[in-house]
Formats: sequence, structure tokens, C-alpha cells
Amino acid sequence: MADKLIIFDTTLRDGEQSPGASMTRDEKLRIARQLERLRVDVIEAGFAASSNGDFEAIKAIAAAIKDSTICSLSRANDRDISRAAEALAGANSSRIHTFIATSALHMEKKLRMTPDQVFEQAKLAVRFARNLVGDVEFSPEDGYRSDPDFLCRVIEAVIAEGATTINVPDTVGYAIPELYGNFIKNLRERVPNSDKAIWSVHCHNDLGMAVANSLAGVKIGGARQVECTINGLGERAGNCALEEVVMAIKTRRDYFDLEMRIDTSQIVAASRMVSQTTGFVVQPNKSVVGANAFAHASGIHQDGVLKARDTYEIMRAEDVGWSANKIVLGKLSGRNAFKQRLLELGVQMESEADINTAFAKFKELADRKSEIFEEDILALVSEEAATQQREQYGFVSLSQHSETGERPHATIVFTVDGKEMKGESDGNGPVDASLKAIESHVKSGAEMVLYSVNAISGSTESQGEVTVRLQNSGRVVNGVGADPDIIVASAKAYLSALNKLQSKADRVAAQG
Ligand code: KIV
Ligand code: ZN
Repeated sequence: MADKLIIFDTTLRDGEQSPGASMTRDEKLRIARQLERLRVDVIEAGFAASSNGDFEAIKAIAAAIKDSTICSLSRANDRDISRAAEALAGANSSRIHTFIATSALHMEKKLRMTPDQVFEQAKLAVRFARNLVGDVEFSPEDGYRSDPDFLCRVIEAVIAEGATTINVPDTVGYAIPELYGNFIKNLRERVPNSDKAIWSVHCHNDLGMAVANSLAGVKIGGARQVECTINGLGERAGNCALEEVVMAIKTRRDYFDLEMRIDTSQIVAASRMVSQTTGFVVQPNKSVVGANAFAHASGIHQDGVLKARDTYEIMRAEDVGWSANKIVLGKLSGRNAFKQRLLELGVQMESEADINTAFAKFKELADRKSEIFEEDILALVSEEAATQQREQYGFVSLSQHSETGERPHATIVFTVDGKEMKGESDGNGPVDASLKAIESHVKSGAEMVLYSVNAISGSTESQGEVTVRLQNSGRVVNGVGADPDIIVASAKAYLSALNKLQSKADRVAAQG
């Protein structure tokens, strides 16, 4: 019988550490529900001790999700571990993931601890965690750049203390597939009690090899858990992409011979949800989930696929959920159909009144746009959730004038703590004028580091989805806005980013 490969998703923890990708409790809960539908084995829901927001999000996810193990990250100290256990108390199945750096560089420069101190702290942390939960994962941070002798000593000790999973991170994305695979293999051969734990890989993508390294860790090293994120979201160049690693294992079952629990037909929905929530757009040529991943433009390819699809296709678009891109509702759809669609999309509204408000917004949109896609509904719900949180800034209306040869001018009405304000400005283009009109009042001093427009469902009839990334005093946030009018979408995205800048982010960095 084939071995089982555990899929550990860390979109809500390592993915969220990506600058600008921070999510609210409700956004995290919605994504966790989609991860449960995707049937990931473990959802790393956050880092409980890093902030009250993360603690509450983990608690809510632990209470709502029944079919995946819920995990919290914690540094190797009693306070972090207790906080993780507290957040996970309501879970059906829970895991504490504790870590401490083991590379000479990290121990000396970051932790300012001797190897012996790190060794003791790792042991004590796992012992403490095992008294609280039965499922404990230990990660030697920067494991791949650590001295193998020291690593073997630490790993043997933490397994003896009861660690059930040993994860070997390539924290800085320095590994090469063959070397990483052999690194894991050697550790497993040298650690005397290695068979008492499941071995896991966790690879970052700085050299573009996170997926290849993870697969080598599985094939050569014998790891039976892969840590990954949807769309490869994560700090710097990101983490190992779940959709790629899962489809590689599935498509090349002849080579890997491993079983997974994943329902691959949920992959595209998960990808869209994460992209829409964080504002991290998926590149069109991205494997599996990019818009072009299954598009055949060249005549030779089209001809081949029509004659026999496996001439140019190694996976079926419908197996990863592409067929779900269909019109779901229209102008004549009623409240019940809308409510049903929300449930199918995993969106749970707090009250009937909230459904009524969202339904009214849906009707407004349906008046302006004949076909409503799942993405439109998700965008509408995200916007509605932001309004519910009584955010400081809210969009009301916009008018702008632009004509060839003239400098565009915009007038915007928006709310600040519920009070309407009017701002006016000209600019290089209509978007520039609109955002300057907002700034004429707000004077945030923020620097815009990214502006991108994307058609939610392909054509010019689609809603435009705009992402604005702002930076201020070292903080980076992403705002997302959607509207059939891309200038309005831009203003909404800008206001959403300003709201995020306002919310206090007193987080402790996991690798800090
Ligand atoms: O990359 C890393 O080392 C991590 C650990 C905290 C597991 O994310
Ligand atoms: Zn990581």
C-alpha cells in the first residue's frame, strides 16, 4: 500500500507573514473553511502569541473546522506554547508547532545563545507542549544551514521528549533539490529514534526551487509531510506552492507512489480566494492556477488537444476546479439563490440582516453587470465585511472628468468615521486625480509601492479588481477594491489600504 503524504497548509501563518498579506479574523476563517473543503490535513492557522488578532483568529478557526487538524506556531518558550494551547482548546484535533533556530548564524547573531542553551530550550519546549497536546511539531529554524551533528543531537532529544513531527526548514530558500533531499535522508539515517516521528519539509522559494526541494525531500529524504501555501504566498519569494506540489505528486503518481487526502477540484477556488483576499494577484502563466495554465493558443496545440487531449495536457483543467468559472447568478436571482450560493462558497454571514445588506449590494451590481460570477460575489462579500467592521474610511461616490489634451480632474465623496468629506484634485490621469483627491484630506504621508488592475472574470464587462500597496513608517499593507468602473475600484482599494494602515499591528515576527 502506498504511504500517505500529509499536506500541511501554512497560508494563514507563513503566507500571512508576506508584507501586505495580513488578514482579518473573518477573512482567515473563510480561507480556513476553503482549506477544509480542499481537505488539507493540517491548517497552520497563525501564531497565537504574536497578536490578539491572531489568537482570536486561531480560536475561531479551531471552533469552526472539524475535518482538519488546527495548528498554532509558537516560539520555544512556555508563554508562547500556553497561548497556542489556549487558542486551540476548542479544536477537534490540534497541534502545537514550536521552533527555535539552530544554525550557528542565527544562534549567535539573532538569539545570542550558545548551542547548549538552544539544545536545552528546544527540549524543555517540546516537553512543555507535550503536556498540553498530544501532537507536537518541532522545527529547527534555518535547519538546512545548521551543523548536521548539532541538528542530529537536537532532533534526537526532542523526539525523546515526545515531538511527533520533525520539520526541517530551508528558511532562506538556499537549498538545491538533490542536496536537500540527501540532507533529510542523512538526518533520518543518523538520528537513532528517527522512526518515532514523521519527517516534514518546509522550503522557501528564494531561488525558485521551493517545490523542487520539497519534492526531493519527499522522494530522496523520505519526508511524509509537506508544508506549503496556496499560490506559494509567503515572505520574500514565498513558500512551496500547495497546488504545484499536490499536482506533481498526483500527476506523477507513477514516480512518487504516495496517497493524499486532497480534493484537487477545490484548488482553483482556494487560489482565487487567497488572491482576492490578500491582493496578491496570480501571474497568468503560473502553474496549475494561472489563467493560461490550461489555455492553448497556438494552432498546433489546439489541433492536438482537439484530437486527443493528452497530446499537450498532462492534467485536466476540471480536476483542479477550472470548470467552476461559470456564471452563477443574474439580475433575476432571488434572495434564496443568493444565500445558497454564499453557503456553497463557504461564506457564513453573522445574521439575516447581514445577508439582506449583501443581497441589496448584489442587486445593485446585477443592475450594472448582466452576469455575476463567483469572484464577483466574493469581492462583494469582502467589501461588505470591511464596511461591517466600521472602518475609518468608506467610499461614497466619485465623479471625474478626463479628455484628450486636458488634465483630468476628480471629485470624491468618502466617509471618515461616518462623516462625509469631499476632496478634489487634478492628476496625471483619472486614477491619479482620484487618489490625490482622497489624499487632499487624509494626508497619510504613505508611499504607494504597487498599483495593479485585474479583470476579475476576464473580459471588459468584468469588474475591475485593483490592488494598492501602501508603505508608511515601516508597515506595508495591501488594499483591494472591486467595481465595474476601475477608477472607483482604485479609490475603494486606496481607502481599504488606508484603513489597514490605521489598524494597529503590534505583531511579533516569527523569524524576528
Ligand atoms: O521558514 C521557517 O523556518 C519557518 C519556521 C518558523 C518553521 O517558517
Ligand atoms: Zn517559513
